Amino acid sequence: MISKKLEDAINSQINKEFYSAYFYLAMSAYCSTKDLDGFANFFYVQYQEETSHAMKFYHFVLDRGGNVVLTKIDTPPADFKSPLDVFERTLEHEQFVTKSINELLDLATKENDHASASFLKWYVDEQVEEEATVTKLVNKMKLIGNDIGGLFIIDNELKARVFTPPAVK
Ligand code: FEO
Repeated sequence: MISKKLEDAINSQINKEFYSAYFYLAMSAYCSTKDLDGFANFFYVQYQEETSHAMKFYHFVLDRGGNVVLTKIDTPPADFKSPLDVFERTLEHEQFVTKSINELLDLATKENDHASASFLKWYVDEQVEEEATVTKLVNKMKLIGNDIGGLFIIDNELKARVFTPPAVK
C-alpha cells in the first residue's frame, strides 16, 4: 500500500503530466497555424506521450491500493514567439518535470518504498531521453538561425515522428 504522502505527490504529478500534454497540444496548434506540419506532428506526438505518462501513474496509484485524485489543469499559453521559442520552452518545462520526478524518487527512497522507486526509474530514464531530444532540436534551431531552407528540412524530419505507446498498465 502506498503512503498518503507519496499518493498525494503522485496525484500532483498526474496533474503535471496532463498539464504537459495540454502545453504540447497548444504548441502543436501554434505550429499548425504556421503551416509547420512536421513541428505540429512532433508536438502532437508529445501530447500523446504525456497523456500516457499520466495514465501510467494513474494505474500505478490504483494498483498500489491508493486513490486517484484528478485536479484542475492550468491553461497553457496560446501563443509563442517562434519555432525556436517553442523548443526552448519545451526544454525548460522538461527540466522542471525532471526535477519533479527526482523529488518523487527521493521521497520513495526515503520511505523505503521499493515498488515506487522501481516504478519511478522508468520516468528517470524517460526524462534523460526527452531532454536529450529537445536539447538537440534547440541546438539545430539555433544553428539554422533565420535560414528558411533549414527550417523546412527540420520540419520534414519531424514529420516522421510516430507515437509508440508505452505499457501504461
Ligand atoms: Fe512526462 Fe515530458 O515528461
